[in-house]
Amino acid sequence: MKTQVAIIGGGPSGLLLSQLLYTKGIDSIVLERKTKDYVLGRIRAGVLERGFVQLMREAGVSERMDAESFIHDGTQVSFGDTMFRIDFAKLAGHPVTVYGQTEVTRDLYHAREQANGKIEFNVEDVVIHDAKTSAPYLTYSVEGEARRIACDFVAGCDGFHGVSRQTIPKDLRREYEKVYPFGWLGVLSETPPVNHELIYSGSERGFALCSMRNEKLSRYYIQCPLDDNPEDWSDAAFWAELKRRIPKEAADKLVTGPCIEKSIAPLRSFVTEPMRWGNLFLCGDAAHIVPPTGAKGLNTAASDIHYLYNGLREFYEHGSKAGIDAYSEKALARVWKAERFSWWFSSLMHRFPDQTEFDLKMQIAEIEFLRTSETAQRAMAENYVGLPY
Ligand code: FAD
Ligand code: DHB
Repeated sequence: MKTQVAIIGGGPSGLLLSQLLYTKGIDSIVLERKTKDYVLGRIRAGVLERGFVQLMREAGVSERMDAESFIHDGTQVSFGDTMFRIDFAKLAGHPVTVYGQTEVTRDLYHAREQANGKIEFNVEDVVIHDAKTSAPYLTYSVEGEARRIACDFVAGCDGFHGVSRQTIPKDLRREYEKVYPFGWLGVLSETPPVNHELIYSGSERGFALCSMRNEKLSRYYIQCPLDDNPEDWSDAAFWAELKRRIPKEAADKLVTGPCIEKSIAPLRSFVTEPMRWGNLFLCGDAAHIVPPTGAKGLNTAASDIHYLYNGLREFYEHGSKAGIDAYSEKALARVWKAERFSWWFSSLMHRFPDQTEFDLKMQIAEIEFLRTSETAQRAMAENYVGLPY
């Protein structure tokens, strides 16, 4: 087979890139290791920045998102007995959009299928060849049958555990990492959200987050030890722990019910540099990971796609390589700012196992500053709604 852009990974990054390229008549093939149902079964992010929303519109896949998403003008931050609101609309001039990653992915699959876009599922043993040349190609197999795709460019959208990053020689890669000594236990429940806005809550028992997907579907997270097993958390134990960690007014009106999904995610900050090697471009989780506090993972994947899509468009429409040559530098400049914000918000809101009294005083002082300073609130709001592309 032959295509212009071979995309490894059928998660949100790969699908969004494929759909955007399609709107400009640029051909691509997406290779996904799992099945579509598996990808859609992964419950992940829920908050979209305006840049992401704009890209979905540009890709022509915003109809359901525009009709069904929630627009949030602010969020609640609580720490111990302190609770206050960050007003995104007033301080940063933009709201955020609450719409699940599952729905984004579903809409993108639907659009690719409507357009007869080529997506291969259950691919195995993907190998990237000749990435440094102008004629790269991929080999892989499906149900034991060997296949090959020749292409102009390879987009590595295959997440943190994919092959793309590993294809770049080790001595040319620089990796930066911070692993946090806890995880997040997340549940999805068919219950009404406890509040009309998200609540980020730091407590002496650890962090908790109240989020939502729609009027009847809630998403909650609590900080937990890394070696906890989701099966060992009964629904009752989860709700009891959540109630202890959120403000009393919220705990009193929390509607509980059966948890329809329960999983634990580790927290990690990670960046690889550069994000390009020859004609291979890394996008999204393949190149960087943030801890989830502040919802930057999916949104940072989207900003990579914005830069790569525009670079490829310039190349195919005008023969200019300027955009793709600047890709790594431009993407990384924004990635590091999202890393900083996610690290800051995570460090502020969690209890760390080795935390000293001094560290706690620093968190309290930082929270007090954030509560009382409009400047600090504006800085948070600007980052939360998404820095400009
Ligand atoms: P992915 O979604 O990981 O997609 C990569 C795709 O590539 C996958 O479908 C995978 O099957 C496929 N693949 C991998 N290797 C190969 C291969 N060799 N060949 C072919 N295909 C391959 N972000 C938030 O903002 N908020 C959250 O609450 C949040 N929760 C998260 C919970 C978990 C458990 C995880 C793992 C991430 C979470 N994130 C969250 C981060 C967010 O979901 C990711 O940033 C986002 O999914 C990145 O999209 P992506 O397309 O780059 O990567
Ligand atoms: C969600 C996840 C986050 O990490 C976050 O900061 C906000 C919302 C969510 O899954 O809804």
